[in-house]
Amino acid sequence: MSVPSSSSSQPFGALAAFMRPPQHIGMQTLDRSAFQRDVPVISIAIEASKVGKIRSNPALRGQVLDLPKVKPIVESQNSEKGIRWIRLHVSREEDIPSETRELIDRETLGLRKENVQLGYDNWNTSEILCAVLPTTKSDDIPSSFTSTGHIAHMNLREEWLPYRYLIGQVILDKNPGLRTVVNKLDTIHAQYRYFDMEVIAGDKDYITTLNESNCTFTFDFSRVYWNSRLHHEHERLIDLFKPNSLVADVMAGVGPFAVPAAKRGSYVLGNDLNPESVKWMRENRIKNHVENNLRIFEQHGSEFIRTIALEVWRNPFKASAPAPSKRKQREERKKPETLGVTTLTNSHPPQVEEEQKLPEPPKIIQHFIMNLPDSALTFLHSYQGCFLPLLNEEDFVAKYGMDGGKLTDEELPMVHVYGFTKEMELDKAQEDILKRASDDLRHPLSTSTQDYNLHHVRSVAPSKDMYCLSFRLPRQVAFNSV
Ligand SMILES: C[S@@+](CC[C@H](N)C(=O)[O-])C[C@H]1O[C@@H](n2cnc3c(N)ncnc32)[C@H](O)[C@@H]1O
Repeated sequence: MSVPSSSSSQPFGALAAFMRPPQHIGMQTLDRSAFQRDVPVISIAIEASKVGKIRSNPALRGQVLDLPKVKPIVESQNSEKGIRWIRLHVSREEDIPSETRELIDRETLGLRKENVQLGYDNWNTSEILCAVLPTTKSDDIPSSFTSTGHIAHMNLREEWLPYRYLIGQVILDKNPGLRTVVNKLDTIHAQYRYFDMEVIAGDKDYITTLNESNCTFTFDFSRVYWNSRLHHEHERLIDLFKPNSLVADVMAGVGPFAVPAAKRGSYVLGNDLNPESVKWMRENRIKNHVENNLRIFEQHGSEFIRTIALEVWRNPFKASAPAPSKRKQREERKKPETLGVTTLTNSHPPQVEEEQKLPEPPKIIQHFIMNLPDSALTFLHSYQGCFLPLLNEEDFVAKYGMDGGKLTDEELPMVHVYGFTKEMELDKAQEDILKRASDDLRHPLSTSTQDYNLHHVRSVAPSKDMYCLSFRLPRQVAFNSV
């Protein structure tokens, strides 16, 4: 075995030169065999019975070879019976520190040399991509992606497009949970907000399943909107809803607000204009056992806002306990059956005894959600007079008066509307969003509007922020007759 005589001050000593895969700058079709390399390594030979004692000696700290998928301790590679080799980080004897050297002389059978074979599996994504992509800056390397179930999606810069299939294949190889890698194209469906995408590696299977907020979601990622980065925002809003709330999600997508809110005991009216979103929201309603708590609509958001208050007043929900969580179901199954108490099962509706104790579902919507940040602010005028049709309902008038005047401020709905702004400072962002919201609502909103809140959701681009504006719908708007 020949040991090269290079020297280096890097952590791997003389081995540093070998600690990268062979370079194949410009490779566009992945050839995994091109990444093999023999690394000359010095090992310490010891009797098998002494491995534990020597390995834990402080003189070996930081000296043992530590590479992914390479064993640091192996049987003798020279067929010496009962002998083990501890592989060191060095390829030349003179690079072994003196303290380690003393230990070797005192306690071991001496040194051995071998060539450790490294290959494609030993290098990580960045190391492989660094070896093929023409760049000198390692933070330029396009190795990051977002996963949506089994699909990894990337946003490759133009310069990497000739290498996209290779990049996709490396990502797929190195991440066992993935089955598909897609590159998002620049085009986004203007109305339904999903991306055009190209599969760059793996199965052409866009139907994905994932968990969020203790719910399971399945959908066709190429036909509907989904963004896992909104997970915290979904949670934040759902946490605001008390159990037994009545919530209307105007742009509900496949249900990331609607399904978990229903599962936690709210009654939810979920709407979306994209028939494909509606189809998957229905599927997710079944999957998560919230059929009794979630009603689904396929309307333009403006139409939904104008009509839904009357619709739910006339057809209120029936009281229904949310489906028990899987954990609760298991606990219930374990409990001994007592007289009059039925065991909860996965598929059966909650017990009649429990339902009778449930409070009546509200008939007046308490929260409107509008997550279409590109244009939701321009839907606000639809709230003008949205409660007016209720004044023609006898039972409404009997309870709340001819003009709805007995409806308290707290009984008016909260509106949670999302919007983008190019203003990067909070004060200016607030001013911008309040102005656009007030103009469209045709009613002045300000920081002193009842229950006003402005929440920064995330930075979408260097000069584009996403906010959620929350406010109590003004009575003058809800009952406006002009
Ligand atoms: C940004 S996505 C949000 C989806 C979901 N609420 C979420 O948080 O992931 C916006 C949704 O609005 C729907 N949409 C677009 N225009 C609409 C309209 N005029 N009326 C109702 N929904 C609309 C789209 O189909 C899409 O599902």
